[in-house]
Amino acid sequence: MVSYRTPGRAVLLLTLLTLFLLIQPAEMVKHESFKTCDQSGFCKRNRAYADNAVTQSSWESPYALDPQSIVFSKSQLHGVVLKSIAGSNEPVRLPLTITFLESGAARVTVDEEKRQKGEIELRHNSKAKKERYNEAASWAVVGGLKSSTTAALSSQQDNGFTKVEYGPTKGFEAVIRHAPFSVDFKRDAETQVQFNDRGLLNVEHWRPKVDKEPKEGEEANKEPVEDESTWWEETFGGNTDSKPRGPESVALDISFPGYEHVFGIPEHAGPLSLRETRRGGDGNHKDPYRLYNSDVFEYEMDSPMTLYGAIPFMQAHKKDSTVGVFWLNAAETWIDIIKSKSPLNPLSLGLAGSVDTKTHWISESGLLDVFVFLGPTSKDIMKTYSELTGYTQLPQQFSVGYHQCRWNYVTDEDVRDVDRKFDKHNIPYDVIWLDIEYTEGKKYFTWDPMTFGDSIGMQKQLDLRDRKLVAIIDPHIKNEKGFRISEELKGKNLAVMNKDGNIYEGWCWPGSSNWVDCFNPAAIAWWKTLFKYDAWKGSAPNTFLWNDMNEPSVFNGPEVTMPKDNLHYGNWEHRDIHNINGMTLVNATYQALLERKKGEIRRPFVLTRSFYAGTQRLGAMWTGDNQANWDHLAAAFPMILNNGIAGFPFAGADVGGFFGNPSKELLTRWYQAGAFYPFFRGHAHLDTRRREPYMAGDPYKGIITQALRLRYQLLPAWYTAFYEASTEGSPIIRPNYFVHPSDEKGFALDDQFYLGSTGILAKPVVKEDATSVDIYISDDRPYYDYFDFTVYRGKGSKTIAAPLEKIPILMQGGHIIPRRDRPRRSSGLMRWDPFTLVVVLDENGHAEGHLYLDDGETFDYQAGAYIHRRFVFDKSSSSLVSEDLAVKGSKTAAYLKTMAKVGVEKVVVVGAPAGWASKSTVTVTEDGAQSSTAELSYTPPEGSKAAWAIIRNPKVAIGHGWTIDFS
Ligand code: NOJ
Repeated sequence: MVSYRTPGRAVLLLTLLTLFLLIQPAEMVKHESFKTCDQSGFCKRNRAYADNAVTQSSWESPYALDPQSIVFSKSQLHGVVLKSIAGSNEPVRLPLTITFLESGAARVTVDEEKRQKGEIELRHNSKAKKERYNEAASWAVVGGLKSSTTAALSSQQDNGFTKVEYGPTKGFEAVIRHAPFSVDFKRDAETQVQFNDRGLLNVEHWRPKVDKEPKEGEEANKEPVEDESTWWEETFGGNTDSKPRGPESVALDISFPGYEHVFGIPEHAGPLSLRETRRGGDGNHKDPYRLYNSDVFEYEMDSPMTLYGAIPFMQAHKKDSTVGVFWLNAAETWIDIIKSKSPLNPLSLGLAGSVDTKTHWISESGLLDVFVFLGPTSKDIMKTYSELTGYTQLPQQFSVGYHQCRWNYVTDEDVRDVDRKFDKHNIPYDVIWLDIEYTEGKKYFTWDPMTFGDSIGMQKQLDLRDRKLVAIIDPHIKNEKGFRISEELKGKNLAVMNKDGNIYEGWCWPGSSNWVDCFNPAAIAWWKTLFKYDAWKGSAPNTFLWNDMNEPSVFNGPEVTMPKDNLHYGNWEHRDIHNINGMTLVNATYQALLERKKGEIRRPFVLTRSFYAGTQRLGAMWTGDNQANWDHLAAAFPMILNNGIAGFPFAGADVGGFFGNPSKELLTRWYQAGAFYPFFRGHAHLDTRRREPYMAGDPYKGIITQALRLRYQLLPAWYTAFYEASTEGSPIIRPNYFVHPSDEKGFALDDQFYLGSTGILAKPVVKEDATSVDIYISDDRPYYDYFDFTVYRGKGSKTIAAPLEKIPILMQGGHIIPRRDRPRRSSGLMRWDPFTLVVVLDENGHAEGHLYLDDGETFDYQAGAYIHRRFVFDKSSSSLVSEDLAVKGSKTAAYLKTMAKVGVEKVVVVGAPAGWASKSTVTVTEDGAQSSTAELSYTPPEGSKAAWAIIRNPKVAIGHGWTIDFS
């Protein structure tokens, strides 16, 4: 028996809703479901504020730093910013803190002075907390907050300013103007970032609601100075937000003088280099970029509309300089971007003036809390930002392989069958996924007994090839009497509340649902219990997790999510924490996976759709419900690149496209592209035709198999790139500007990229009927075709043939690329396979590279159980040397012992010197052993193809030191 209050109506509604979702043509986003800036009260008010500031020549920002209040101590500047209000002698007091960090970042925080109890009475007797949300940092920031020991007030102070020198070698300076309050951040005496330079700082202070009904005989407000219509209540799409605290937005203009490009602030479907938001015009967006995590059905291309995740981190780049800002606020946020040409510099001898990028950040509530990074490189910024918000998780090796998903594999036998067919067709894969239909009636932590009666047997079969299962668990818990999890959630008071303090109820896949509130430590503790093997029966040690719909998606909620006046743990309004909400679920699931069983400690794997700054510590993301068309294929790389430079590089897009049926050509090209997504998963909607790679038919199946094999061949390079992300914060696939910060022509490129620091430059085909692509090369090194060693020289665009079977990939001279060339069925089965090293010589006959390797599963690497080698090919000594980069720990020796027999089976030298033509052997010396010889065979150059040489079986271990002498 179902126990809804109105069972018939509820079931009917759900069926209609599901039908509606299924039969919708895959075309158009529903604009009417999501707010524009004009429909979002605080955004509209702040844009109007900006217009007013720009159009009134007499405009002066009403914010001033009270000079009497300034105290500088221990690398922190404290003071009070006074906001003057027309018609009042009482300014609003806004405590300011500027912290100068050891890392070279500066943090500017503006709060609002706490009011006396009773002074602020919330409307509607709401239970909402009566202060600005100040806990975003406790979720997003995990380190890097150590104050500088050297920041100091500058010896040169001007009247009306306070100047602080800070940063490495004190090359940075913050120039704080008192009135109007503004801050200029300088590097080497040049201004890089400016706060409130345009005077758009706006902290909507808390105020009591004054009834403005005109008294009898009095005229109604003739000229309202401000638009107050959305201060106290706001209605959109039939939902009314009660806004008990009234207006409380924070906004600031941040300018980047001399910077033409800004990148980041995912998640949006659009180019890497962000567009202007000038309210229309050629190439400009009408609306600002929006960050309000949402389940946007059939999202559109090249749009500033919000998507599922939000990382309010932006990098600005110009020739040889990158700077950045991190706007630490979890509420709905909009970002306007305009670019303007600065006047000609008289010293520039007639050269064009530079472009300034000016941004305007607007959040609905919370603190103004901004970090500023002065670079000078993107790499520096990523490192500092990652120190703050955490490095990318070093994932399990399997999760870097290929994932096979669809909504849905319908029975355990279906899963077994797919698994067998991959083997039959010799196609590698690591993980098969279960979407929501595996559950009994969308009740998570259950298995449908009719279809998944033998989930354990199914997982045992997967385990035979070291494969894994990922099962979906969403945050909405079916609201059903007798369902243990629902009853515990409600009984223990761990659910999100509505504005009245009762358990919030809304609609999602199961119909009537409640949402676990993972801000609550007790909810996390409870969530952990649900994943234990004896609690979640039918799951196994090779079951991992997928958290979807965690924006959260609520089918009948405002903008398909929760009402903003809902209440979370600590009585914070949903408004305050919305963009962090998704991450809290991932955090709870990650914690739960660490504690499934005593003594079984492995790295968790969790995929999430919703995310915020910091989620990179916990798992992977994907770009949600894309469509099976060429535009969506092309959109994926810019999105993944943007995520990567925003610190969350473990990213991918549904291969094949989620909605619709791809043509064979599109599917094939998508696999070729997917082989270069850090997170590589095929996925498809319930309504689509089956499209596992072995179903594609000739020649597609073979070509897709080659793409998958290429991914597996390069797994050592991918894993090393993940290691770099997890220790340096560098993106896994890297945009051109990141690798070549001096080459202006390459700054906006987002359809080609480098894989980690391997020198692999790829440009997978994303256009229909393409037979070639143009790859842009930024430097003068030789570049070689990955497959046939055709050499490309000189800066500029190169046309590369790209028939269907070809992925255009070049190798930049100067690198050594680690590979494993034996085709296997899963990455686990490659554990003991030997390595191939591809030495790609540069114009000076030099190359170097590195390899990181560990057990790919546990945390033992933290105790030294890993191999980290640096390979150097040196022309003068004509030798290839393997050097140790590892720091030894308690588990190093034991691990190295397990790897003692894993060797190098081939060394391929691309661009081999002509002198090697007469050579047939090389001398190999492994540390502590007698020298031996290995065979060398040389292939001379042919046409445009470079010479290359191969050394077979040099009999050296991958974990040892050794030298191969070519002289
Ligand atoms: C929405 C997700 O984006 C999609 O990938 C998934 O298949 C469906 N939810 C069903 O769980």
